[in-house]
Amino acid sequence: MACHGVFVMWPVPATHEGRTNETCQGCHQPIPGGPTLIAHAVEGRSQCDTCHSDEGLVALPADHEGRTAKICLMCHEVSPTMPTLIAHKTAGKENCSACHAEGALVVLPATHEGRTDQMCLACHEVSPVTPTLIAHKTAGKENCSACHAEGALVALPATHEGRTDQMCLVCHEVSPVTPPLITHSLVGRGTCSACHADGALVAVPASHKGRTDQTCQVCHEVSPVTPTLIAHRIEGRETCSTCHAAGAVVALPDTHEGRTDEMCLVCHKVAPVLPPDAPHTLADRHPCADCHAEGKLVGALPETHVDRSDETCELCHEVVPGGVAQIPHKLEGRTDCTLCHIPAQ
Ligand code: HEC
Ligand code: HEC
Ligand code: HEC
Ligand code: HEC
Ligand code: HEC
Ligand code: HEC
Ligand code: HEC
Ligand code: HEC
Ligand code: HEC
Ligand code: HEC
Ligand code: HEC
Ligand code: HEC
Ligand code: HEC
Ligand code: HEC
Repeated sequence: MACHGVFVMWPVPATHEGRTNETCQGCHQPIPGGPTLIAHAVEGRSQCDTCHSDEGLVALPADHEGRTAKICLMCHEVSPTMPTLIAHKTAGKENCSACHAEGALVVLPATHEGRTDQMCLACHEVSPVTPTLIAHKTAGKENCSACHAEGALVALPATHEGRTDQMCLVCHEVSPVTPPLITHSLVGRGTCSACHADGALVAVPASHKGRTDQTCQVCHEVSPVTPTLIAHRIEGRETCSTCHAAGAVVALPDTHEGRTDEMCLVCHKVAPVLPPDAPHTLADRHPCADCHAEGKLVGALPETHVDRSDETCELCHEVVPGGVAQIPHKLEGRTDCTLCHIPAQ
């Protein structure tokens, strides 16, 4: 009678005069199963009638007439089964039933019968755990489960049970950070971690923790730009940075920032054509262009040399092995050398 007394919310009808608390359940039985459980959280939804009313999203049953938002929770309890968190963005996916419906990508549970697109977000909230960005291209990799599945290259988390290839890209987007191209040959380099690992020649970023050699080329492709061939011998030039560095004879391109001498030969190979040895002394012959230039004694240098300055010539070219033979005879009367020395053809 605390609620059904004469001066309270729902007074009993006049027929009930004199009936006491002990008598009520002798005639009135609770509804089997009790009032419908609230299938959503009530936090932020205390104004029940904003949604549950004739003008709102869900009309209430006729027997609810006169019931106000203040009293709903006296009867209705929150279900222990809360709405699943939405594991994907909702922007651009407002038409939930395009994917969540009978015959669509994801079939909804029977509990959802009659629910419309306008209702979904009244209950479901977007999960704070957002889908990981895809750290590789997707072109040519549409069959995600070929690599992402139990027993495949990468096992999927338990949350993914039952998800099919058609679903992956609904949630996952490709990362804007693309994997850098491999700027060296891979011949004999299958074991990437021999060089790419913490403590090895090149440390890998933290994002790479746990990635194995089998995975590297899934993401990284070999660059179409191959390393320039070394246009000189390496002997005596092992410390590349004495000549190749900012401030040295030859500045390196920006792409080379942070690369050390130990790395150069991993990528660069010596050209098949080496600089020919000069048949004359060098130090006393500068500028070389006095003879090696268009219109001069020997003529123009090859195309490869257009940008090479006089300071660089001796860095590549050496004098013929053993040095230049000296003339063991006088030169008087012998100025036409070809009289006796005919150049080999
Ligand atoms: C002898 C059986 C009986 C007992 C005992 C009884 N009721 Fe009722 N009650 C009825 C019947 C029958 C009706 C509907 C007809 C009417 O208005 O009398 C009713 C109607 C009601 C209504 C109105 C329902 C509506 O739809 O408007 C309330 C509220 C109610 N009873 C509460 C109580 C409470 C509280 C007690 C105990 C103090 C109680 N009843 C005891 C039989 C009983
Ligand atoms: C933001 C809108 C909104 C608010 C606010 C809201 N609800 Fe709901 N509620 C819904 C929607 C939508 C449904 C699903 C209706 C359906 O299944 O047809 C629903 C379902 C329910 C159900 C289950 C109905 C069923 O058929 O399973 C109950 C009970 C319920 N709400 C009670 C409440 C109560 C009590 C409050 C206030 C504490 C409340 N709701 C506040 C939108 C809301
Ligand atoms: C006196 C208890 C009581 C109060 C108060 C009450 N309800 Fe109910 N409600 C029920 C019961 C019992 C049912 C299931 C039987 C029925 O349809 O009446 C129900 C059913 C519902 C349903 C499901 C309707 C459907 O179509 O299956 C919704 C939604 C609901 N109530 C919301 C509310 C809201 C919102 C309020 C407050 C404005 C409210 N109820 C107040 C007892 C109550
Ligand atoms: C009244 C709140 C409510 C509304 C409205 C609602 N859902 Fe749900 N949804 C739930 C609850 C609670 C569960 C978990 C229990 C169950 O299966 O009913 C759930 C489960 C789901 C699931 C997971 C099903 C599974 O197999 O695990 C999906 C997907 C889903 N809802 C999508 C939707 C979509 C789409 C809509 C709109 C058409 C919608 N829901 C409307 C409450 C709601
Ligand atoms: C483009 C298709 C698409 C659209 C549109 C879409 N979803 Fe989904 N949704 C999916 C897929 C695919 C899944 C994963 C289903 C699975 O895990 O079996 C999913 C999962 C969910 C889940 C989690 C289910 C679970 O079992 O963890 C919820 C909740 C959900 N969606 C709600 C919604 C709501 C609400 C909307 C509308 C705002 C919506 N979705 C729009 C495709 C879509
Ligand atoms: C050829 C094999 C292969 C295919 C096909 C493939 N992936 Fe991957 N994916 C990988 C590997 C390997 C990784 C790195 C896993 C790691 O970091 O442990 C990865 C990483 C990811 C990540 C990032 C995981 C993380 O922890 O950062 C996501 C998300 C992802 N893939 C989604 C997809 C989706 C979606 C598809 C289909 C469109 C797909 N993948 C197709 C091999 C593949
Ligand atoms: C409903 C959205 C959704 C769908 C569909 C989905 N994912 Fe995910 N995925 C997530 C979310 C959220 C996470 C991060 C939390 C977690 O582990 O569930 C994740 C995590 C991942 C990860 C990283 C796991 C790790 O160990 O860090 C990979 C890889 C991945 N998903 C691949 C896939 C592939 C492949 C598919 C398709 C078979 C797929 N996902 C379908 C939402 C989705
Ligand atoms: C013999 C050692 C060695 C092996 C084996 C090796 N690499 Fe490298 N890799 C290097 C060095 C040195 C660099 C230059 C690092 C730098 O720029 O800091 C490099 C650069 C790269 C880069 C470019 C990084 C950037 O910042 O641009 C990628 C990608 C790469 N390697 C991938 C691989 C993959 C994949 C494999 C296995 C298939 C592999 N490497 C095997 C030594 C190696
Ligand atoms: C899932 C795709 C993926 C896989 C698998 C992967 N990488 Fe990467 N890698 C990236 C992305 C994206 C970056 C650039 C962003 C970053 O640092 O994570 C990167 C960066 C690098 C870099 C350049 C680091 C720097 O500091 O500039 C190297 C070197 C590299 N990866 C080597 C490897 C090797 C070796 C493996 C195998 C053990 C591997 N990667 C596996 C995606 C991948
Ligand atoms: C004594 C100085 C010197 C040393 C030491 C040296 N180089 Fe060079 N290198 C040069 C000069 C000078 C050029 C010509 C640059 C030009 O054409 O502008 C050159 C050219 C190159 C080229 C060709 C560049 C092009 O544009 O065609 C590569 C590749 C190269 N060096 C790599 C190396 C490597 C790797 C090392 C270490 C093993 C090394 N160099 C050591 C002086 C040196
Ligand atoms: C990961 C492979 C890699 C490593 C390590 C590397 N290079 Fe390179 N190098 C390249 C590639 C690819 C190019 C051509 C594209 C570019 O400029 O990055 C190049 C270009 C060059 C050039 C020609 C620059 C120009 O202006 O045309 C020189 C000289 C050179 N590298 C020298 C070096 C030296 C010296 C080192 C060691 C300090 C080194 N490289 C380390 C890959 C590498
Ligand atoms: C006084 C003239 C003169 C000067 C100065 C000179 N050279 Fe020569 N150089 C020659 C002549 C002559 C030849 C032989 C040409 C031939 O065989 O057709 C030659 C040949 C060479 C060759 C061999 C070419 C080949 O095809 O085998 C090299 C290398 C060379 N010189 C480098 C240099 C360098 C480096 C300098 C500057 C330090 C220099 N020269 C300065 C006259 C000169
Ligand atoms: C990076 C090393 C390098 C530097 C620096 C260099 N050369 Fe060469 N030089 C070569 C190579 C390699 C060849 C043979 C292939 C070619 O033509 O590029 C060559 C060819 C030559 C030839 C023979 C030309 C012919 O037609 O057969 C002469 C002469 C010559 N260089 C002189 C010079 C002079 C003079 C300089 C300085 C201005 C110089 N070189 C700088 C590497 C170098
Ligand atoms: C009259 C004949 C004659 C004339 C002209 C002549 N030479 Fe010789 N030259 C010789 C003879 C003979 C030898 C010794 C050959 C031997 O040892 O087999 C020789 C040897 C040389 C050698 C040493 C070759 C070696 O294998 O050690 C050089 C260098 C040389 N001459 C340069 C010249 C030059 C430069 C001119 C022109 C300025 C010149 N000669 C003019 C006859 C001549």
